[in-house]
This record gives sequence, C-alpha cells and structure tokens, in this order.
Amino acid sequence: MSDNQQINVLLVGGGGREHALAWKLKQSPRVGTIYSTDTANPGLADLCKPIDFPFDLKDPFRIQRWCIANRITLAVIGPEEPLCAGLADMLAGDTRAGGGLGGAVPHVFGPSKEAAQLEGNKEFAKQIMRAAQVPTAEARSFTDFESAKQYAQTRPEPPVIKAAGLAKGKGVFVPATPAEALAALERIMLKREFGDAGNVVLLEERLKGREVSVFALVDGRTIYVLECCQDHKRLRNGAQGPNTGGMGSLCPTLAIDDAMMARVQREILVPTIDALKREGVDYRGVLYAGLMLTHAGPKVLEFNVRFGDPECQTLMARWQGDLAEHLIAVADRRLDTIDLSWSPGVSICVVLAAEGYPDNPRKGAVITGIDEAAKVPGVQVFHAGTRRDEQGRIVVAGGRVLSNVIG
Ligand code: AMP
Ligand code: GLY
Repeated sequence: MSDNQQINVLLVGGGGREHALAWKLKQSPRVGTIYSTDTANPGLADLCKPIDFPFDLKDPFRIQRWCIANRITLAVIGPEEPLCAGLADMLAGDTRAGGGLGGAVPHVFGPSKEAAQLEGNKEFAKQIMRAAQVPTAEARSFTDFESAKQYAQTRPEPPVIKAAGLAKGKGVFVPATPAEALAALERIMLKREFGDAGNVVLLEERLKGREVSVFALVDGRTIYVLECCQDHKRLRNGAQGPNTGGMGSLCPTLAIDDAMMARVQREILVPTIDALKREGVDYRGVLYAGLMLTHAGPKVLEFNVRFGDPECQTLMARWQGDLAEHLIAVADRRLDTIDLSWSPGVSICVVLAAEGYPDNPRKGAVITGIDEAAKVPGVQVFHAGTRRDEQGRIVVAGGRVLSNVIG
C-alpha cells in the first residue's frame, strides 16, 4: 500500500472495546472513514459511519461485495463470535469460508476460524497447551452429567466448571462448595443454559494466585508482547461478589515484572504459537492469555483471540503511534517493522454497570453527566451498553454500561 493512500476501516463489534479501538484508529492520520457494524452504540455513532445493510455472517457474499464497493482496506474484528464463525477468513478471501469474492479486504486484523478455536473450544485449547507443554490447570472433559458429577465429588475441593464452547463469557463457574459445583453442572449439562456450548464440559483444578491479562500481537512469525494488564472480575469492591466480564482494569499492573513477562513469553506464548504452527494453524491477530500467577509459576486460565474488555480501553489510552499501521503490519506479517511505544504512567478503567448486573441488568435508566466527566483532563468515556432514546438521551441498554478511563 502506498504511503498516502487513505485507509477505510470496517470495525466489527459494538462494545466499550470497539469504542476504544475506534477512538484510537481515528487518530491515525491516514484513516479515512471508519464504518461500524453497531452505531446504536452512541460512542461509535460519534466516530463512525453506520454500515447500510444488515450484517449477517450467513450472507458472506453481501458483506464481501459491500467491502469492495466501499473500498475497505482494513477490517478490525473486535469480538470472539465473528472470529470463531470465520469472518476473518471470509474477508481475507479464504474460499473455505464459503465466500465467492476472495480477498475482499486487503488487510484483516483477527485470527482465522481455525486459530480462533483457541477461545471457541476450550478442549482444543487444552490439547494445544498439552502438546506445547504450556503450564495450565489440570482438566478433564465430560459429555455425560453423571460421570462429571461423580468426578467432581471425588475431588478434594470443588473444581472449576467450564462449558467448552462460546458462552458469551458466562459459561465458567468457580464454585465454593460441592453444592455450587453440582448446581453449575446442572445448569450447563441438564438445563442446557448455554446450548451446544455446553456439550462438552471441562472440570479443572482451581488455581490460586493473582490473575493478569497478557496480550501479544502475533503475525504468524513474530510475537510482540504488549503492556500487561490486570482485570478486576468481581462485581464489588474488595474482590467481593460474583465474577463478571470485568469491572475495571489497570495498565500496566505491578503484579508482574519484566523477568516474569520474559518467562511468560518463553514458556507460554512462543510454545503455543509453535504448537499451533505444527498443527498447520497460522495465528495472526492479538492473543490474550489469561494467567494465574501461582506459587509454581504462571499458568494459563484461558486463551482469548481478541483484545480484552475492559483491558483494551486501558491499552488504547497508553498506546503511542499509529494503530491502523500497527494492525495492518500484523495482517501483512510485518510486525517486526512497527514502531509502538507506551505513554508513561498508568491507565485505569472503571466500568459503570447497570443495577442488577450481571444476572439481571435493569435497562432504561437515563445517564447524565457524561459530558462533564469527559471534560476532566486525561479522562475518556467509552460507551458499551448504552443507547440514545427517542428524545436523544443516553440510557442504560446493557450490563456493563460505560468504561471511564483515566490515563
Ligand atoms: P475463563 O473464561 O476460563 O478465563 O474464566 C473466567 C474466570 O474464571 C477467570 O478469569 C478466573 O477468574 C476464573 N477461573 C477460570 N479458570 C480457573 C481456574 N482453573 N482456577 C481458578 N479460577 C479460574
Ligand atoms: N476482561 C475479560 C475478557 O475480555 O474476557
């Protein structure tokens, strides 16, 4: 691509993470129009143009045609669902993805469907980790309720219970008692609350320690480790209440030092990418390792194939340089050429959630004070579960509502 060519972006996804990505992409001098698949998010509506057709992954030909007609040069895929469904392959022109128009988008940021199994299929992830000898929690998988129940009862303490498939971040239970473990198994395997995502269930050893989120850009050849973040999962202050999608984040975290980061790269990231390569899987995008720093060293809790939310908001607040160029370099296997640095200091994100979150978020409440908050020096307000009502007011429309970043 020549240096003065304008970059039109298709940004897929409509949460706080995507608002932060759009905000940073907008700062790239060569970015022209950013099209968003979800401009019902008022933050995205301010920065992006809406796409003018229903974005349906079952109609790849229409998506491809639209990308070509609108001269999309970079596609950035935020959430895991479209990645696991093969959107990156479809846009990049892998004909196995069912598309007719190969190569609709020259630069696609996000891993292929095969590589996205690292998040979409926890059994696959465990197999890769075993093959790579990557430290992780001991786990066994089950398809039958009675066998899973019996196994859980024989464990010295209740195991962590996970639906193996994609469950919108809700298919993981960390039970404190055997009764809670049983209830979790019933929800996944008998009531089938997560549908087919619960066909296979993993029962895992419970790891103890501090949790950190390590992100790396990966272009199939080169790994570029980003600043380490910490995500606060529990709903209430003082690490109390149920696990959530993330109530806040910190970047960088003091929980991990340079020596430990080097160890994570050596013992976890590099062997995982190598093991994928041996399986014929080419990983290009961002790899997110959720780690527990245990007494025996760092161990993988899970892999994700996208930026974390709300970790992305804190990463974007400190990201220096041209994000669009960086993401294109990943897509083009030129990661070794990028010039990425971090603004000094720490960025902190605090998530505002709806009353009743995470189980029953109550929608409709009017939110005020956003403009005043955004005027505070160093503060960015990113929209997640918000909408504009008929009178133009911002109202609560989801669980996690706003991410306020100071950085
Ligand atoms: P996951 O989606 O697999 O990361 O799980 C969500 C959250 O559950 C993690 O961020 C941890 O807080 C917790 N968790 C998952 N697996 C384990 C484990 N083996 N031991 C302790 N906590 C875990
Ligand atoms: N912050 C956790 C996640 O994005 O999965």
